[in-house]
Amino acid sequence: MISLTQFLIEEQRTHGAVNAELRLLIEVVARACKRISIAVGKGALGGVLGSAGTENVQGEAQKKLDVISNEILLEANAWGGHLAACASEEMEDPHPIPDAYPKGNYLLLFDPLDGSSNIDVNISVGTIFSVLRASDEHAEPEVADFLQPGTQQVAAGYCVYGPSTMLVLTTGHGVHAFTLDRELGSFMLTARNLAIPSDTAEFAINLSNRRHWEAPMRRYIDELLAGREGPRGKDFNMRWVASMVADVHRILTRGGIFIYPVDAKTRKQGGKLRLMYEANPMAFIVEQAGGAATTGRARILEVAPEKLHQRVPVFLGSKNEVATATRYHQDADAAS
Ligand code: AHG
Repeated sequence: MISLTQFLIEEQRTHGAVNAELRLLIEVVARACKRISIAVGKGALGGVLGSAGTENVQGEAQKKLDVISNEILLEANAWGGHLAACASEEMEDPHPIPDAYPKGNYLLLFDPLDGSSNIDVNISVGTIFSVLRASDEHAEPEVADFLQPGTQQVAAGYCVYGPSTMLVLTTGHGVHAFTLDRELGSFMLTARNLAIPSDTAEFAINLSNRRHWEAPMRRYIDELLAGREGPRGKDFNMRWVASMVADVHRILTRGGIFIYPVDAKTRKQGGKLRLMYEANPMAFIVEQAGGAATTGRARILEVAPEKLHQRVPVFLGSKNEVATATRYHQDADAAS
């Protein structure tokens, strides 16, 4: 069995992709995820369920576990000397490294607990993270330092807290999955080079929003729903966990397409999911696994970010389905 540490050392030897500072960063994030996994796993016994009674920067009600997970990640990453700053879904501004500690060369962005509406009903949730290089320009990184396109990510990953806790990671050389061995307290490599099949017969979308969608979005899903008798000539299955981490993890395991489109409800904000710490890391992972990720119009990783908490539509997974859904939107735009 290969531990996460051994894997990272070997990645550095093979590809030169994980220097000691980046390795420390990934190990620290993994250690924080172990602590979050323990908190999530205790559930009602740990007194961690329910609302924190506060709102985050997005105006969303925070769950106790959102706040706890954010604090675990901040604390874990404060002292190692590997970060210049970090940013989180739960905080309006970038979080500086305390003056007591040295600063490093990386920026870390995270969604500490994605899918938090699932916490209280004992369904999988997850942590998503993205790593960028800090610029040398500012001693104290500013928002502008974080606003790099997803193509600049040096690493990305997520941890899914499901029946088992799994860490899925890319440093730009494939996507690899580690399962937490609860007795050892270590993440062990359990799958190398995850590959998303190009074709699929499974889609993930919140269908209750259909009436708010754009015409090409309705066209695409209606054709899937028409099944064997429709223009696609085959039956499609549907799954929707409402935890992006869990839905993406299923797609990495057996294929599929995940869509959170822009609709009449979210048009003003540009979509529902956040670019910097949800869409970009997931797009990096999915592309590294041979899939595709677009906004329905353009490649997610090439979107030029304007705001730290920017939102985008997300289409990702099996590349032939992502291409079809994207083409329908592009064709509709060209015709209008
Ligand atoms: P949050 O973590 O703020 O609860 O958001 C979850 C995200 C994503 O994980 C999931 O795919 C989507 O929102 C679910 O949205 P709906 O509730 O609209 O289906």
